[in-house]
Order: sequence, then structure tokens, then C-alpha cells
Amino acid sequence: MKKFKRYTVTSALPYANGPLHIGHIAGAYLPADTYVRYLRLRGEDVVYVGGSDEHGVAITLGARKAGVSPQEFVDKYHEMMKKTFQEFGISFDVYSRTSAKVHYDTAQEFFTNIYNKGILKEETSDQYYDEQEGIFLADRYIIGTCPNCKYENAYGDQCERCGTSLSPRELINPRSTVSGQPPVLRQTKHWYFPLDEYESWLREWLLEGHKDDWKTNVYGQCKSWLDQGLQPRSITRDLDWGVPVPLPDAKGKVLYVWFDAPIGYISATKELLPNDWEKYWKDPDTRLIHFIGKDNIVFHCIIFPAMLKAAGDYILPDNVPANEFLNLEGDKLSTSRNYAVWLHEYLQELPGRRDELRYVLTSISPETKDADFTWKDYQQKVNSELVAILGNLVNRVMVLTWKYFDGVVPNAPQLTESSDARAGINRAKEQTAAQFNESINEMINALDTFLFREAQFHMMNLARAGNRFLADTQPWKLAATDKDAVASILSFSLNLCGNIALACEPFLPDGAAAIRRQLNNELSDQRSTFWKERRLVDTITGGHKLNKAELLYRNVEDADIERQIEKLKKAREAKAAGTPSDVKPLKSQVTIDDFAKLDIRIGTVLQAEKVEKSDKLLKLLVDTGIDRRTILSGIARHYKPEDLIGKQVTLIANLAPRRMMGIESKGMILMAEDKDGKLQLLIPSEPVNPGSTVS
Ligand code: MF3
Ligand code: ZN
Repeated sequence: MKKFKRYTVTSALPYANGPLHIGHIAGAYLPADTYVRYLRLRGEDVVYVGGSDEHGVAITLGARKAGVSPQEFVDKYHEMMKKTFQEFGISFDVYSRTSAKVHYDTAQEFFTNIYNKGILKEETSDQYYDEQEGIFLADRYIIGTCPNCKYENAYGDQCERCGTSLSPRELINPRSTVSGQPPVLRQTKHWYFPLDEYESWLREWLLEGHKDDWKTNVYGQCKSWLDQGLQPRSITRDLDWGVPVPLPDAKGKVLYVWFDAPIGYISATKELLPNDWEKYWKDPDTRLIHFIGKDNIVFHCIIFPAMLKAAGDYILPDNVPANEFLNLEGDKLSTSRNYAVWLHEYLQELPGRRDELRYVLTSISPETKDADFTWKDYQQKVNSELVAILGNLVNRVMVLTWKYFDGVVPNAPQLTESSDARAGINRAKEQTAAQFNESINEMINALDTFLFREAQFHMMNLARAGNRFLADTQPWKLAATDKDAVASILSFSLNLCGNIALACEPFLPDGAAAIRRQLNNELSDQRSTFWKERRLVDTITGGHKLNKAELLYRNVEDADIERQIEKLKKAREAKAAGTPSDVKPLKSQVTIDDFAKLDIRIGTVLQAEKVEKSDKLLKLLVDTGIDRRTILSGIARHYKPEDLIGKQVTLIANLAPRRMMGIESKGMILMAEDKDGKLQLLIPSEPVNPGSTVS
């Protein structure tokens, strides 16, 4: 295999249209994170690139539903995902976003470059246009009757009832989802990338060049795409959200999201290394690897490589280890139906258990076929593997060393074989060391071929071998008679623990840190030897003082997972009843006295105006019956100031004043907020005197 000087590793940029769930993690993030942690341990030069995908219909539709601007919409989810990734420990070197300036510049330059080379084709065609809204309609914005199954609400790109993929012109009685009106056809010009012209090059580069090193699921999908023949693809859209097409005659046109998003990997690298990014994208000694889910395969294996090829002097992906899908308790994960294990909720509800989720997701990683996550399986794997095998080994070794040697690594010269027991110990040491070397090798071979599930299994075999060593040598039986033998067993076992700390780091970073903490040794000097030479290394010295023993992992109790199973059951029921299930969870209980502390009243709005530099806040002057006071309210997106004057509102009158945007707000207007974030005033059903109380 070719020897590379450095690595550029990417994880698919998630759409900033909702929180992250375990399906995302298992597909494109955890395997990538495990891999880059491995590379870094080996001392490789690697950048791990990520960011939010903030364009496209997924975003504009979501924002429209929520009644907010696309920018506000992506701001919310970008921040949320970034925070969740960080809290979960996905170790991006940079987490950028496609609404960043560096990305606009990079994507536009990329387009201009291939445009100037004369690669793109211009074509004018008829597309559906919403006359009332004055916009061209993306396929997803058009619904109508499916020509195949006659379902009345099929989308312009696909019928969700029968699964047929459609084009908008095939729909019977099409209507715009924006205005509800039937759209009209109107001429519009777009730019096309001639993917067909890259077909023979792709066949050679991909089908010939990566026959043996790409996963069969990935290779197979690519082959069937190529066998069907490639078409030119339009890379621009008529939309007001996205990267503007950098041409003088392209007003109102933006780059198609799947054209700009993968360029986001390059922009993010630029953001991280403004002066040094090129070697990560243009030096043939750099190995580019894309981690993605299977629905992204053609974009990363066919379209983006063709774009890179067209642009010239870019490297191409050397591997694209795409995963299949993860299901949850036998059902498809679904963001819109709230049927998922949300990562931010997991971190809150099962705190201190990051490794546990990593471990379980890797152990069922959908590498070759779809996989199923169940909470029972989670509990079982944590309790009987992490706790009972890995945690137990480290804990036994630590506790015994404290018991017999007061927490100091015993000096253990080569054991003379003056007894059968001693001969047995030397033999067990040799066997265990051999097993370690073998498992370490197998683990690293599996990592090198992106078989993370298998790699983790070999890592756990180290702990299994360690436990077997203790069971075979039984140091507790020798404590009274042969202290040197106990010293020999425990110093050897402590070294096994040190090697396990090195080995488990890519999979279980928190556990690895906890072992290092107990051994009172950062192991930084041994890291690269272990990972490069693939063998047991020396991690301890006689006389070294250990820290106190701590438990690596705790059992997951039945109650912990019953709560999770119950939550999923509710989401399923809500779906069956057709009710939206994204209702916020119940807050903790309060007493009637807690409630009585709030002074809630009805007031009348006397004046209303926008707050300068804020697109959220309105400044209201409210007659509360007691006084006239200024209250700021975050409803600017939902109400026009002039529509509020004279309206009655419900307010908390005794809330401590707060300053926002330089204005003091004395109280809070109460609002109803639906699942999409739309706000409405709470107005008494008949007018009442200002100052009337609410109780
Ligand atoms: N946002 C896309 C998805 O979630 C993935 C984009 S990957 C990129 O399916 F390469 F385009 F960035
Ligand atoms: Zn249909």
C-alpha cells in the first residue's frame, strides 16, 4: 500500500435542521473519530474536518415551517450540533459551517474556476414558478397527485406513499406548497456540470482503481450508477438562500446545495489553516478519506470527485468507508416523527456515559448491513462487557496492588522457577504477552481497513486475556507464601492495564484517561511505539506510586433503560395517533406556593416598535393597570408592531427587570409556542380591565 505523508479526514456535513441522533453518530462521526484518534496516536499528521450543511431545501422548508429566517434557523441548529459534538467528544480539528464567508468565497472560486475553463454548460428550460410568491419552486415545494398510486400529496421529487421517484412535471394537479396555488411553467437558465463527460475517467479511477480497497457496498452502488449512465447535472437553483452564482447574469440564482456542501470540507480546512490548507487538498501524498452514510455515496464517490478532477490539482478521495443505516428498536429512525435517541438528551439523561454509547454503537456499527440499536442490548453490553470485563480487570489489579503493595508498583525481577506455581506464572505471562501481541495486531489491521466493530472486539480481547491471566495465576492465594510471585503477577498485570489504556483510547477515550489517571502515568512516551510497532510495550516502573482505584464503568440499571424505552413508546404512540410528538418534556413539579409567587396579569399594549439592530425583539409600552411600563418581547418575527397596538397581553408583572440591547425590560409577555417555534399571544377570550390577575 502507498505510504502517505498526511491525512485529511472528513465526516459528512450534517444539515443544520435538527438535533443530532445516534443514527448520525453511528454513520459518519463515531467511525471517523475513532479512526482519527488512532492516526493521531500513531503520530500521523491529520486534519479532521467537519461543519454544518446550511443550504438546500431541508433548511428553507424547515425555516419556513418554524416561521423564522433561514439564517436564524441554521444559527440555532449549528450552535446546537457544534455543542453536542463537542460534549460527546467528536474530536474535529475544525467544525465550520457553509454560511461562513470563507465558504462562500471558496465555493464561488471553485465555480468560477471550472466556469472559466469552459467546462459548464448553460441551458434554459421550463420550470414551475409560483406567481403569487414570485419564486421558482424546488421539487420539494410542489405537491400533487402521484401518477403511479394516485396519492394526492406526493412531492415533486418522490411519492412518499409508493416510493416512486418523480419529477414535478409528472404530478397530476400540481400545487405550490408555499401559496397553495397551481404553479405555472416559466423559462429559467441554469448551469450544468457535464458528469457524462467524466464517465470513462470515473470507470477507470473508481471501478478499476478501487476494486479491492473500497467496501463492497460502496463499490457496488457506484458501479450500478455508472452502469446506468451519467447525465449532466444542474448545479444552480433559483432560490434566495445559498451561495450566489458568481456570474453577472445570474441574479437570484444560487449554487445547488450538493455542489457547495462538499466544497465545505475545503473551506473548513482553510478556516483552520489559512496558510497551510493546500497541502491537505493538493499534495498527492495526502490521503483523503470521507466518512459518510450510504445515502451520500454517489455525491462523494462520483460527483464530488468529478468536480475535483474538473477543477484540477486536487487530490481525490482514497477511500469512502460509507456505513449502512442504524435502526432503533426495530424501527426506522425519524427526525420528523421524533423517533430517535437524541444525542443531547442522552448526554443529559445518562450523564458520564459517553464511552458506553461509543462502545455499543461501535459494537453494532452498520458497516456491512443495517443494524439495530436496542436499549436492552445497550444495558447488556455495558454491564457484561465494559463493566464485567474491562472495568473489572483494571479494578482488580488496582485494588490488589493497593492491598499488597500500598499502591506502589512492586519491583519484580525475573521469577526463578523454584516452585510449580512460579513456573506456571512464567508460562502464563508468556502466553498472555503473545495473545496481547496478536490481538494488538489484529486490532490495528482492522482499524486500517475501517472495520471498527472488529477492531473494538480485538481491543476487548486484551481485557479478556488480562482477566484470564489473573484467574490462572490467582495472586490472592500466594499473598501469604510468596510475595515475590505476587509482585511479579501484579507488575505484569499493571503493565497489561497500561497497554489496554493505549489500545482503548480510540474507542473509549474516557476509560483510557481513567486508567492513565489510576496508573498515574500519561503514557505519552509509549503511545507511538505501541501503535507503530503493534506490540506490548513497557508502561510501568517499579517504585512508581499509583493513584487510588476508581471504577471505570458503572452498571446500567433497569430503571435507566426503562425510562428510555418508555420515551420511545410514547413517540411511537403519538405517531400512531397522528399527533405531533415533539412536545417538550414535563418540567419538574412545583408547589402551589411556587406558583403563587408569580404575579401574572392582563395588560394592554399602548405602543409597539422594533428594537434597533434586533430582528427578534419588539419594544412594547404596556398599561398593566398598575403602571405603564416598557417590556421587551421576542416576537418581532411573528407580529408587526402596528398589529399589536390595543391588543391585550398576558404578562408576568413581578419579574426582576432585565436589560437587553441597552433597554430595560420590566416584565415578560407570555406566549404560546408550538413545535415549530411559532409564537402567539395569550389573549383573554373577552376584553378585561388592564391589571386583571391570572390565577
Ligand atoms: N447534509 C448532507 C446530509 O445530511 C450531507 C452533506 S455531506 C457534504 O445528507 F459533503 F456535502 F458536505
Ligand atoms: Zn405514489
